[in-house]
Amino acid sequence: MMIADLPFLGVGLNYEPPMHDQYLAHYDEIDYLELPTDAFLLRMQWDDEDGRTAWRDRAVEIAGAFPVVAHGIRMGLADAAPYRTSYLDRLEPFLDLIDPVWFSDHLDQGSVSDGAQRTELMHGIPIAFTAEQAQAVRCNMQTVTDRVRRPLLVENTWYDYMIKIPGAMDEPEFVRQVLDGTDHGLLLDLTNTWINAQNYGFDVDAWLAAAPLDRVVELHVAGGELRTRGPKAGTWHDSHSRPVPEQVWALVADVVAAAPVRAITLEWSNDVPPMPELLGHLSRARQLLHASPFYQNKHVAAPEGISHVTPGNAVRHR
Ligand SMILES: [Fe+2]
Repeated sequence: MMIADLPFLGVGLNYEPPMHDQYLAHYDEIDYLELPTDAFLLRMQWDDEDGRTAWRDRAVEIAGAFPVVAHGIRMGLADAAPYRTSYLDRLEPFLDLIDPVWFSDHLDQGSVSDGAQRTELMHGIPIAFTAEQAQAVRCNMQTVTDRVRRPLLVENTWYDYMIKIPGAMDEPEFVRQVLDGTDHGLLLDLTNTWINAQNYGFDVDAWLAAAPLDRVVELHVAGGELRTRGPKAGTWHDSHSRPVPEQVWALVADVVAAAPVRAITLEWSNDVPPMPELLGHLSRARQLLHASPFYQNKHVAAPEGISHVTPGNAVRHR
């Protein structure tokens, strides 16, 4: 499917294992779930070692009850060639298992190679915004989608440090170069952009005005924390642990007015509030999305089997 033809999903949450049953209990208030690809890959590997299928069963149950998208952190889309296709040997069967509407990962580097040996990094690291780096990302995205024939989105990151190289371009131009001429979409994390703007003192409105908003498919919103101690005191950390800042909600309103946003994911993974509070924040995102001139109230068809997997044998009604 072409990126421009991707369906409108509505508003969703990132999947947190302790809340599994609560998602199912509130399925009619959550339009879709974003499954953490690498958390599932790791736990399904443990399952295999222990001769169990617990995490596979969880993934199948959620994907049977909700439209899902898959969101990774280990794809290493900015890695140097050759791309480590061994990752795709694990990714592809997982995506086949849950059949996501799209899958996504970040504009960062996940491994380093000296040509002979490759070292996996613990976390994705920031990249330089150069033409050569943009070309490497484009090449890797092509390798990934040649193998995994599903729609791919790339996400802008927040960064705790920047790699400054003379002649490098600004981030919006870099994102544009990554996507130009491809059929890949942008997962725009507005909290990441806002936090970077606070920490590095750039104008977030100018950033958005220069970004390829026409390529946005999904938005991420989350709440970070202002550090009060240590060498980074006074800077923001994207902790996914607080309500979305008012300034970020204002950016959501701006972007949905200008871009064909198909989905807004509220990311909350630490200090997650009770479900009613979470759903309150989600309904705020829904109001903003529904006000978009691009929004089509046309949901993805409910997966088969919902009546068998939701508590109380509820029947999906939208
Ligand atoms: Fe994000």
